[in-house]
Amino acid sequence: MSSTEANETVIRPYRADDLGAVYEVCVRTADAGGDARGIYRGDELMPNLFAGPYLLLDPDLAFVLDSEGSGVVGYVVGTADTRAFVGAYRDRWIPRLAHHYPEPSGEATEPDDIMIALHYRPERMILPELASYPAHLHIDLLPSFQRCGHGRRLIAAFLTAAHRRGAPAVHVGMLTANTGARTFYDRLGFHEIDVADPGPLSYLGRSTSSMAAVAAP
Ligand SMILES: CC(C)(COP(=O)(O)OP(=O)(O)OC[C@H]1O[C@@H](n2cnc3c(N)ncnc32)[C@H](O)[C@@H]1OP(=O)(O)O)[C@@H](O)C(=O)NCCC(=O)NCCS
Repeated sequence: MSSTEANETVIRPYRADDLGAVYEVCVRTADAGGDARGIYRGDELMPNLFAGPYLLLDPDLAFVLDSEGSGVVGYVVGTADTRAFVGAYRDRWIPRLAHHYPEPSGEATEPDDIMIALHYRPERMILPELASYPAHLHIDLLPSFQRCGHGRRLIAAFLTAAHRRGAPAVHVGMLTANTGARTFYDRLGFHEIDVADPGPLSYLGRSTSSMAAVAAP
């Protein structure tokens, strides 16, 4: 699947040699949409939580925005089955990174330890209110490629693929502070899902079958 755009970009399936570029886009957008480089002890921490596991465990649902001049400048990753993904995260992803991230003991207070504690608790992704939205996704684009319609096209690629994999609906868990992303999801037909104790996150969902609101207006 691919779609060429007038400005020399293409949305195409993820390939293994995109890994480094996807990690770079992730860290440069991981601070509530802004640049997270330098915030954590290692710049690979956020990608190791929010990009790497999807690329390993569900590569067929990963798509990249490839620019002729700049290479991979955006991506969408996710899963069609959050419950199965959480099991695979625990069984295959946590052991893979065990030498990098020893499990924090006691209450995590430092930014790195807070994220590493999340890494060791993938079951946090399973919430009863989200049961009818089994797919979930993460999407990020470098700043100079934002607000050009690429996000819409990446979401369309993901929804089509997730629907083919049997997921009737998708959810996102996004930082409530990321107001730009909230507007984006609102424009694409996502609605808020009430969740008990959402913490700093808002949960949004939509069907994977209707492309209404996702196609360019
Ligand atoms: C959020 C993000 C994925 C949106 O992708 P995008 O390519 O910039 O969005 P699009 O150009 O496809 O925009 C689709 C619609 O959302 C609106 N929109 C997108 N970003 C917006 C923003 N920051 N503020 C207000 N509206 C926004 C667009 O105006 C457009 O509306 P339209 O119906 O008038 O056309 C992208 O901006 C991004 O990667 N941001 C940084 C990382 C991030 O926040 N990721 C999401 C984490 S939950």
